[in-house]
Formats: sequence, C-alpha cells, structure tokens
Amino acid sequence: MDALTLLHERSSMGKLMGPPPSPDQLEAIYRAALRAPDHKELRPWRFIEFSGEGLSRLGELFAEAEFHEDPHASDTTLNAARKKLLRAPMIIAVIAKVTPNEPKVPKVEQVISAGCAAHGILLAAHALGLGAMWRSGKYAFDPVVRKGLGLEEEDEVVAFIYLGRLGGRHKPLPEHDIGAFVERWR
Ligand SMILES: Cc1cc2nc3c(=O)[nH]c(=O)nc-3n(C[C@H](O)[C@H](O)[C@H](O)COP(=O)(O)O)c2cc1C
Repeated sequence: MDALTLLHERSSMGKLMGPPPSPDQLEAIYRAALRAPDHKELRPWRFIEFSGEGLSRLGELFAEAEFHEDPHASDTTLNAARKKLLRAPMIIAVIAKVTPNEPKVPKVEQVISAGCAAHGILLAAHALGLGAMWRSGKYAFDPVVRKGLGLEEEDEVVAFIYLGRLGGRHKPLPEHDIGAFVERWR
C-alpha cells in the first residue's frame, strides 16, 4: 500500500479478534509511533501494552474506578467495566508523558505529539492489515486509573488503542467536501 493510499483510507475497526499482533508487527507499530513530531525532542510518549492477564488487570482497575466513583455500584456495572477490555486481544495505552514547565513546549504541544504517536499506531496497524480502534472513554480521565497506570500529575492518557485481527468489514469511508474545511488566504 503506498503512503497516500494509507493516509486516505485508514479506517477504524471495532470488531477485533485474536491473536494479538506479533512481535515483528509490534516493532513496526512502535517505530511508526516513535516518528511522531516532537518539539525539542522531549519524547513525550509512554506506551503500556496490555494482553492476556494484563487485560484482566486493566479491567480490575476500571472496576476499581467504578467502585470508587460509586461504592454502591452493582455487580453488573462492575462486570461491564471489566468486560469493556475483552473487545480486543491487545490494548495499547498511549500516555502523554509531559515535561512540566518547559518554556518552549507547552503541555498542549506535548499532548498533541502523543496524539500523533497514537495516529502512527493506527496507520501502521492499517498498513499491516490489522484492525485498530482509538478509544478513550471516562476511564482515560479517571483518577484511580491514572494512579494505577502510574501517571504523574501533568501526564494524560491520550488513547486506549484496541488492536487485533479484523473481525469484520471496514465501514465505507466518508466523503468529505474539502472546501468546507479549508480557507484560503491568497
Ligand atoms: C481522542 C479520541 C478518542 C476517541 N474515543 C472514542 C471512544 O471512546 N469510543 C468510540 O467509539 N470512538 C472513539 N473515538 C473515535 C474512533 O476512534 C474513530 O475515529 C471513529 O469511530 C471514526 O472512525 P474512523 O477512524 O474509521 O473514521 C475517539 C477518537 C479520538 C481521536
């Protein structure tokens, strides 16, 4: 697949199946992520890869967050929190590891850089014929989850990227009217 076709045709896939990406595929994926634009080479990226028992551990963390928010939460609610993660054989959490008080690179730039890294993961996964879906959801912002993942105060969870083999067909690509988004000053 040539580069422009990849950029024009990348698409998310929510239906994912095992097995998780192979070590070679993961290396290609991380190499793409690590090519994210990076002002002052701060490397504001941290990736946590969850598979197998690791997914269950993350599920427990989500259930703990739910319980912390509402100690009367039903078993159904707690189990739903655990099950969210079983939609893929692997999840990569993309974290903006923010260097605070960096005069030339404000936090927003560092978070954007981590977002670009997440996009790199999606693009590489698509190029490899894998399925991927960027999700956030309330747990990305939850203090219990942040603590459990070892985030420091200024860090942000930018994405939980669900990865696996394609479990369905890609939806049709939307048609965009470029003129509706672009202003030209000439
Ligand atoms: C920061 C961010 C967070 C997102 N979080 C979710 C989410 O929690 N759940 C969801 O269904 N889609 C989420 N999406 C959107 C999907 O990843 C996807 O982009 C969307 O369904 C459109 O599909 P496409 O990527 O094939 O165009 C998120 C996207 C971004 C950029």
